[in-house]
Amino acid sequence: MKYLVVGGAGYIGSHMVKHLLSDGHEVVVADTVATAPDIEWVELDIADARALDRLFADYHFDAVFHFASHIQVGESVSDPGKYYQNNVAATLTLLEAMVRADIKHLVFSSTAAVYGDPQYVPIDEQHPKAPINPYGRSKWMVEQILEDFDRAYGLKSVRLRYFNAAGADPEGLLGECHEPETHLIPLILQAASGRRAAVTVFGHDYDTPDGTCIRDYVHVADLASAHALAVEYLLQGGASASFNLGNGLGFSVQEVIDAARAVTGRPIQVIETSRREGDPATLVADAQRAKKVLGWQPRFAGLEEIVGHAWNWERKYPWR
Ligand code: UFG
Repeated sequence: MKYLVVGGAGYIGSHMVKHLLSDGHEVVVADTVATAPDIEWVELDIADARALDRLFADYHFDAVFHFASHIQVGESVSDPGKYYQNNVAATLTLLEAMVRADIKHLVFSSTAAVYGDPQYVPIDEQHPKAPINPYGRSKWMVEQILEDFDRAYGLKSVRLRYFNAAGADPEGLLGECHEPETHLIPLILQAASGRRAAVTVFGHDYDTPDGTCIRDYVHVADLASAHALAVEYLLQGGASASFNLGNGLGFSVQEVIDAARAVTGRPIQVIETSRREGDPATLVADAQRAKKVLGWQPRFAGLEEIVGHAWNWERKYPWR
């Protein structure tokens, strides 16, 4: 198959590209930043309809994977225009270009943030969608646009709602590198490697056993395998659908720090501070639908492997 990976130079997108290439598919990456030199890369902003039309005239794609988006919850509150412009308006431009080019299959990166404050856990796909910030709203808006595009134009999509994407390529070739970094596991490991003096823990007074927030960490290689199954499902005629991607296991911030101390053998300095605005106490996925419908089977559910692979990456690139 020939696939377009939009945002294929990013954290999850790059793991997807590796997965698709190792399965023998042809891949073109569209991104605003360059990817590895041996990967076919088109420098492209999806807000540019003409550039998309040229791309779709040059190549015939069986499906598109769309990973490109802004992902910082706090920034989305202070600068919502940036999020609606990029995550919604530019995505709409991509979808319209796909319709013009008669490309009928899309796998879209969505998020657990579409649910907002959980009314129950584990969270299944029927849980009410009540996002509490512009980031979550931007993803939920696109999900609804996709339903309309299916009805009107027959564009079939799978929306994958990630819980906490984490870890790194088990072979050590790829990993997480955000600028600025806001995610818990890389920040803990930067404190372990000495790139940072300490990690800050946001809140010790949550209604959880140790008082710190509980999240469902899902390995980035397992996210990639879910996307590969999702596109197969679509190409075999599957109906548009949304799926949660998580392990169904909750780990507290304190448990993640303890696992990182065990994996790295390093003391990790912790600074306790107050809660970060908008953090629910517990987010855990019910991912039974992805397992039943797509046949998804995560390989790396334990913190040791997720943190271990992220630590290999942190140690391999101490100059970053
Ligand atoms: N945390 C800290 N200290 C830090 C960073 C994070 O204590 O320096 C805590 C947070 O309070 C939270 C947990 O660690 O309880 C995980 O935080 P992350 O920022 O790593 O991840 P989030 O759960 O906030 O966000 C993730 C994605 C978002 C997405 C959200 C819901 O990064 O893009 O899940 O889907 F919106």
